[in-house]
Amino acid sequence: MLKIAVLVSGGGTNLQALIDAQRNGILSSGKIIQVISNNENAYALMRATNSGIPSAVAKTEAEIISVIEGVRPDIIVLAGFMKILTKEFIDRAGVPIINIHPSLIPSFCGKGYYGLKVHEAVLKSGVKVTGATVHYVNEIPDGGEIIAQKSLDVLPNDTPETLQRRVMENCEWVIFPRAVESVCRKIEPKIFPKPQKYAGRGIITGMNPSGGKVLAYFIMGRSVSSKARIFERSGNDLIIKLTRDDKNFDPSLILYSPLRVLGENIIITNGDQTDTIFDAMKTGGTFEGALRTREYEPDAPHYTPRISAIMTPSGHKQSILKRAGKYFYEYDYTPGKGRLIHTYNHDVMAGGVLPSFEGEPREVNIPDDMNRFAESLWRELGEDYRVALYVRYYDGDTYTDKLYNTQEA
Ligand code: GAR
Repeated sequence: MLKIAVLVSGGGTNLQALIDAQRNGILSSGKIIQVISNNENAYALMRATNSGIPSAVAKTEAEIISVIEGVRPDIIVLAGFMKILTKEFIDRAGVPIINIHPSLIPSFCGKGYYGLKVHEAVLKSGVKVTGATVHYVNEIPDGGEIIAQKSLDVLPNDTPETLQRRVMENCEWVIFPRAVESVCRKIEPKIFPKPQKYAGRGIITGMNPSGGKVLAYFIMGRSVSSKARIFERSGNDLIIKLTRDDKNFDPSLILYSPLRVLGENIIITNGDQTDTIFDAMKTGGTFEGALRTREYEPDAPHYTPRISAIMTPSGHKQSILKRAGKYFYEYDYTPGKGRLIHTYNHDVMAGGVLPSFEGEPREVNIPDDMNRFAESLWRELGEDYRVALYVRYYDGDTYTDKLYNTQEA
């Protein structure tokens, strides 16, 4: 389910139309998770509260962005939002933004045409037809690609108020929820919150909506030796192999078993701590106990964190050993959700020190379709640095998996 943030300024009847559409199933591919108003007196805020939707007042673009970054929507919907958004905002948001406008664009739109003013201009011009338009938002006010339109006859005795009401009832509230649904259907939920350059190595553990367990492990690399690796299946485990023979190079940090099955448990890590956990648990030890005997990698100046996870029948755990300390996280399985942890927070210029992953493992959406999930993840890793990806969906002993390697064996 995609996350929708709605920006409002006024009465919020279009917001209400979306809420109603969610109730009656017309809007089913996305869920309104946040309402943001630039006007603290907007009745739209009350509508959000009445429907149990979190709401916030944010007046400047910077304030709106900080709410957006906190909730990370997949789409932003403007429902009677009376402020023109800047290019900086649109770029920073990084997700599709769509707007409803109460006229047939390209007529009666752009700067100065909002709310009742649109209908006043329509009546003044003498046109006999008006309507509403849903469109993508770009840096040109009301200038983005059109998604849907619906027209309506102007009646001889219309006032701006009656025309506004009729356009809303007959056009806006009809096409807006349908357009939001159609856009949501086209959006792939993002695994990474922002396009990312270099996450290093990463693990996802969790469950698909149907209750199957899901894991993924990826490696990215910047150096030639780090890129010269492939994943290979070895029984039910996963191993890494080098694709070139380099006598001068110590492969101990890049050759390991990223995934080992131990009875009903699966251990996934970015180093030889897979074996530390495996050996400890085989003799009655624990995931945490095993990892407490280890620390981050000795690869100065980065001191790459060691990330690890275990999937057990009843829950999944993740851990990161970094210079700041040793961290452990434990989760119940939640259908459709997983957790993502990776080694580096973001990329740095060549020669810089790579910053370790910060914060808690991030929640990610997991679909039922393994191929779709694997493809999105592979795509989001980007062509520059991705090296290999392994995804497994399983239920008891049976599993399906998918493996990608950038290099040939
Ligand atoms: C609606 O008619 C909407 O199309 C329009 O303002 C009204 C808000 O009503 N939007 C614009 O003019 C945007 N430029 P609402 O708050 O009841 O949805």
